[in-house]
Amino acid sequence: MLSFIKNNYYPVVRPAMFALPPEAAHNATIFALKNNLVPAQEQYGNEMLKVQAFGLNFKNPVGLAAGFDKNAECLRALSGQNFGFAEFGTTTPEPQSGNPKPRIFRLVNHKAIINRLGFNNEGAELFSQKLREWRYANTTKPEIIIGANIGKNAKSTTDAADYLKCMDKVYGLSDYITINISSPNTANLRDLHNEDMLGAFISELLQKREELIAKKDVKVPMLLKISPDLKDAEFEKVAEIVLNSNVNGNKIDGVILTNTTIKRNFAGEEAFAENKYQGGLSGKPLFKKSTAQIKRFYELTNGKVPIIGVGGIFSAEDAYAKIQAGACLVQAYTGFVYKGFGLVNQINKGLVALMQRDGVKNISELVGRG
Ligand SMILES: Cc1cc2nc3c(=O)[nH]c(=O)nc-3n(C[C@H](O)[C@H](O)[C@H](O)COP(=O)(O)O)c2cc1C
Repeated sequence: MLSFIKNNYYPVVRPAMFALPPEAAHNATIFALKNNLVPAQEQYGNEMLKVQAFGLNFKNPVGLAAGFDKNAECLRALSGQNFGFAEFGTTTPEPQSGNPKPRIFRLVNHKAIINRLGFNNEGAELFSQKLREWRYANTTKPEIIIGANIGKNAKSTTDAADYLKCMDKVYGLSDYITINISSPNTANLRDLHNEDMLGAFISELLQKREELIAKKDVKVPMLLKISPDLKDAEFEKVAEIVLNSNVNGNKIDGVILTNTTIKRNFAGEEAFAENKYQGGLSGKPLFKKSTAQIKRFYELTNGKVPIIGVGGIFSAEDAYAKIQAGACLVQAYTGFVYKGFGLVNQINKGLVALMQRDGVKNISELVGRG
């Protein structure tokens, strides 16, 4: 009975959450997580769900996408939700308040969110303290892989400088680092995808990692988080640059596909109302596009670059489709807003059932099979 309530409380809580403005609801959720008011989920595990990627062992392929816990405040509570991995940030070198409010909008009919937060966060110093406390905490911890997502301050130039500062702060405190060049809410950030900037930018970051490997004696995988809004030719270039990245034999270890989109595909009467919000669109309307990008990237790189698939995952079937398209791991954000953290095990258990149906023994057999 207790476990039934633990796994199914969200339908009861959700109406209260959705009665609040989206950002207030988010802050209330962070408060509840920080203060141990959110029940942990069943620590369900299955050999079929285990994934090895970029040198790390994941107990399951379901991750929390970046942006949910920007300041790494809820590491303990989130690790109790049975995620295989959770990504924190985006953090920036200096604290910043982000764009004016309101800046998060729910499109309930579309199971979507539009946000234009603009990397509101408390800065990399505090962020790294939280990661450090968690890493060296002297208590029993659920098995979980931790990612640190880094970006740049709004006032900074669009180059590698801020990312290098963040790397200095977080290196060795997380299991992987994500280089976020794809938020649509920081002016010019997405310019870093341009072929004349990206190669040099990545080289600088990989060079920095070489220094940090020598200093800290640990190689932390580095992933690039990519926009869904690139033109085909731009996307092909990004894939080529990632594939050929190389500093002393070390490369970009993987990519995250995708961030939110600034494109709108709402039709008919709803179009006017839904299109009025500026910002990045996530959730259901992003699913097809991000899945297509995963498939394309997998083809362009012959499956040589591990992909974390994200965008509009609300079910095990959605996750399955992303994996078949070429992702070895998946993440979600908007799905948890609409369905709660019970979705983690719903996806995990559903994936096992789908693999059994299809005679597949492990996630790795599925990757890119679609
Ligand atoms: C409110 C909100 C804030 C976000 N903030 C970040 C962020 O700080 N850094 C980042 O890399 N992605 C951020 N994202 C993007 C998500 O990590 C994810 O890539 C995107 O929402 C698509 O997944 P979804 O459809 O499951 O939400 C944010 C998304 C939302 C909805």
